[in-house]
Amino acid sequence: MDTYDRMTAPTRLDIDEEYSELSLRPRRLSEYIGQKNVTENLKVFIDAAQLRGEPLDHVLFYGPPGLGKTTLAGIIANEMDADLRITSGPAIEKAGDLVAILSNLNYKDVLFIDEIHRLNRAVEEVLYSAMEDFAIDFIVGKGPSARSLRMSLDKFTLVGATTRAGSLSAPLRDRFGVVSKFEMYKPEELRLIIKRSAETLNVQIDDESQAELALRSRGTPRVANRLLKRVRDFCQVKGSGAINIDITRHTLDSLGIDGLGLEAIDRAILDLIIQRFSGGPVGIDTIAAATGEERVTIEDVYEPYMIQAGLLHRTQKGRIVSDKAYLHLGLPVPESAAAFQTSIFAPEDEAAHEREDCNE
Ligand code: ADE
Repeated sequence: MDTYDRMTAPTRLDIDEEYSELSLRPRRLSEYIGQKNVTENLKVFIDAAQLRGEPLDHVLFYGPPGLGKTTLAGIIANEMDADLRITSGPAIEKAGDLVAILSNLNYKDVLFIDEIHRLNRAVEEVLYSAMEDFAIDFIVGKGPSARSLRMSLDKFTLVGATTRAGSLSAPLRDRFGVVSKFEMYKPEELRLIIKRSAETLNVQIDDESQAELALRSRGTPRVANRLLKRVRDFCQVKGSGAINIDITRHTLDSLGIDGLGLEAIDRAILDLIIQRFSGGPVGIDTIAAATGEERVTIEDVYEPYMIQAGLLHRTQKGRIVSDKAYLHLGLPVPESAAAFQTSIFAPEDEAAHEREDCNE
């Protein structure tokens, strides 16, 4: 199955009608639900910068897709009374493209670069002096007559976002004054987001349906809002106006989303590890080859939620499924698997991966 056709893909889909998604996004820090570790500190830094009348220091957000990094960049711009310019690493092909963007920014403006780990080297080098000195250096001419010219820029704030902090070069990472990690949302936080979105969309939904949607949204607001819209569709066509638990369950079941929010591809990955590799450990490249999915897609899109849900573990020897995965797929837990897991699975393996992510 194509990743980008999945209902629960945390990456952006065409069906997230851009305007409708935009209208669901909070515009102020006070409206933003969850990510308290990020927002509480950010509020202090924004307030302090505003008191000094200065731009906010550069900010790096990292974590899985769909958790609200772009939304928070927009909020920073609003709170700073500044404009937001959005672009992405792959979209900036040449140094000149970046120069054009930077030279059009005004004092305190926020430049958001999504997937910043995908900037090419020539572009990244322009960014170094732009971030540090608010200037761009050009070499004019060749040979002995070559001269260096410096163009100064208005002081701006760069907000970079990445799913892989470990892929950022050290010089780039070091130029961010604030580095914040986004975590998956807890079901209660997602429920509040769904409640808020339903109010914005002007659709009634009972508490039980909010909770059910929250449980099946993979810890991701983008998925939660997308599922809410699909339940609204089913409700409009087959229901009676207000969203209830029957129509919610019917919609999610029709979309092939199970009780934990997994879709066919997630179950196929777990099933592969169980049936072909006796529950693991199995290397990520083997899983990629056997499922026909790209390694990065498995690592960045499918795995984070399955790990968070306790279905899958990353160990130094490869991926292993947990007892919970067997039970979720309705398969008996083999005793050997349980014994093997106890011997191989050390919690610090997860911590090691995190360290790798931040320090690579
Ligand atoms: N919509 C999407 N993400 C949100 C969040 N974190 N808080 C409130 N509404 C949201």
